[in-house]
Amino acid sequence: MLKSIIKNILVSEEEIDTIVTRLADEISRDYAGKNLVLVCVLKGSIMFTIDLAKKLDTVCEMEFIRTYSYGNATESSGEVKILVDFDRPDFAECDFLILEDIVDSGNTLKYLVEHIMSKGPKSVKTCTLLDKPSRRKVDFDPDYVGTVIPDEFVFGYGLDLFEKYRDLPYVAVVSPDYLASRGL
Ligand code: IMP
Ligand code: MG
Repeated sequence: MLKSIIKNILVSEEEIDTIVTRLADEISRDYAGKNLVLVCVLKGSIMFTIDLAKKLDTVCEMEFIRTYSYGNATESSGEVKILVDFDRPDFAECDFLILEDIVDSGNTLKYLVEHIMSKGPKSVKTCTLLDKPSRRKVDFDPDYVGTVIPDEFVFGYGLDLFEKYRDLPYVAVVSPDYLASRGL
């Protein structure tokens, strides 16, 4: 069943581990002595956030935010909404690092950076596990990138396919036949 949905595995469990270890090392170095607050963008970044946080060698706090962008399963409309936000009294003292599963059009992270910036933080940076720069619709570059991937719809390791398969330990490319069968 799952086999018929997967075209190929794009980032294996071992490759994810190598990427997350490298990112955690860079972030631990860059944020030593700072008030690091990880911002997990729900739901897609949950696996990435947990694995990255476990590998960090510096003290951090965690916040969770949930976004929604209208559109169909593979194409966002560009309009980003915050479904669940966080608040805290000490924005001015915090160095926020937003953790995303994937940057596609760039709308979500651009919007979230502006949203947190509007609260007067010490700093805001972004880190994405996957980046699809060929799909960018707005001018946005993440500060930390796990790996660049081609323009294909992927799922697993937090990323969903119609809300399912977030639990897979690897990132896979969905088969075109499956997408076609769902009218996409
Ligand atoms: P952006 O706002 O267009 O950059 O898209 C960001 C969001 O779209 C991500 O956080 C994902 O939730 C979703 N997304 C984009 N590409 C994919 C994909 O290939 N698979 C699953 N979700 C995706
Ligand atoms: Mg997401």
